[in-house]
Amino acid sequence: MADTDTTALMKSLIPRHDGIDLERLHVLIEEELELYVERTPKSREMAERAKRHLVGGVMCNWHGDWHLPHQLYVSRSKDCRVWDLDGNEYIDFNLGDTPDIFGHAPDNQVTSSLASFIQEEGIATLLPNEDAVVAAEILAQRIGLRYWYTALSASDANRFSIKIARMLTGRPKVMIFNLAYHGNVDETLKWTLEPGSIERRFPLDYAPGQDPAATTAIANWNDLESVEKALEGEDVAMVFAEPALTNTGIVMPQPGFHEKLRELCTRYGSYLLIDETHTLSEGPRGCTGPWGLEPDFWVAGKCIASGVPCAVYGFSEEIGDKLGAIMQMDDPHVSAGFTGLGTTATGNALSTRALRMTLEHVLTDEVYGRMRETMARLVDGMRAVIAKHGVPFSVTSMGNRCDLRFLPEPAVDAFDSTIGVGLGGYFEFLHLRALNRGFFIIPYLNMFLCSPTTTADDVDRWVECFDEIVADMLSG
Ligand SMILES: Cc1ncc(COP(=O)(O)O)c(C=O)c1O
Repeated sequence: MADTDTTALMKSLIPRHDGIDLERLHVLIEEELELYVERTPKSREMAERAKRHLVGGVMCNWHGDWHLPHQLYVSRSKDCRVWDLDGNEYIDFNLGDTPDIFGHAPDNQVTSSLASFIQEEGIATLLPNEDAVVAAEILAQRIGLRYWYTALSASDANRFSIKIARMLTGRPKVMIFNLAYHGNVDETLKWTLEPGSIERRFPLDYAPGQDPAATTAIANWNDLESVEKALEGEDVAMVFAEPALTNTGIVMPQPGFHEKLRELCTRYGSYLLIDETHTLSEGPRGCTGPWGLEPDFWVAGKCIASGVPCAVYGFSEEIGDKLGAIMQMDDPHVSAGFTGLGTTATGNALSTRALRMTLEHVLTDEVYGRMRETMARLVDGMRAVIAKHGVPFSVTSMGNRCDLRFLPEPAVDAFDSTIGVGLGGYFEFLHLRALNRGFFIIPYLNMFLCSPTTTADDVDRWVECFDEIVADMLSG
């Protein structure tokens, strides 16, 4: 797609509302950018130093996603608070974009267990221990799938699941929903901008010369006809779905959508992977338990081991038995390690302990009950502000996650959801004003997460700030 087309597309995504002057909003954004520069001189100095050896001043390019005049650097984080190098304090509703939903360095069993683990036990022996067995037992009982593996990120868990699905079906493609995100997995980093097209989603060309449509089929969320069309050629090894789309804002499934999706996967011989990396915010069994979903593969990462690098992928008995037969683990002449599923550090004992302790002590109904209560207060507060000012915005929530949308109705498809993010003025003003007033929001969406340590007072302070933000959007 040419640059001018991209600009036109971006402009078409800006919501416009009576009473909100976008030009004036851009003046307010400039003021916030200046204020940010004034508040963070030490970060600016660090950014200059960092650029000598780090592209863009960051060791992971995700850290540059805040789009600030200079990079913000952190000195410390604890519970739901973060402090920057200049000593500014933030109430954190981002929580690392999910890994730390249980809090930064929380005072709980996971933290105390890991602290003594590092001093007294080894991290890498290239052998399993009882933690792995207990974690798999808990996951099997909660999610209803028989076999479990770990990975170091949800992206890896998705990648490894694709390998297994392709190996067992002999089919080349995976199907994704347009604009969904499943990590840095090449097959899923594609999108459809015009009907029928499948294009690379980001300018980096990971597979020069390869036709994006050779590995990927794309359907539209909540559109079962498009799913059937993608699957009927019987060349799709696996379908990727979240319970609700969460990466363009939250888009809930229409009634009956998941039942029919399951049916179509079975009819056309494609495996179904449910990716709960974000929707684990719903509860200890994600949405799969309470909604009665029936995946062949199930993936979660990020918070599953309290932010320690770890992810899990589970699969059915039938898949595990076929995989075991192919890997011939009992044959001394076959190397199980060279199957491309994980590497030497993947099942390390530190991540596995963090996984077990999180499953046992933190991914519990009691902890989720507290997070839900705080989130309910936040959602009610923001809805009250929206009603008070009569603005056409809305808030959708799932467990301890909520999403502010700059349109009045909940989204039903991913493009509509993207418009609701409010890029081009609303989004930028919200995020910069929040940051300058001491609040972190997930930087690429209008999403908020509550941890068990987020208090009613933290929430009320945000709601007060949101009230000012909406009032300022309307003034002038
Ligand atoms: C639904 C979903 N799946 C997978 C991932 C990838 O997770 P990770 O960054 O741990 O690889 C993400 C990340 O945001 C996600 O939202």
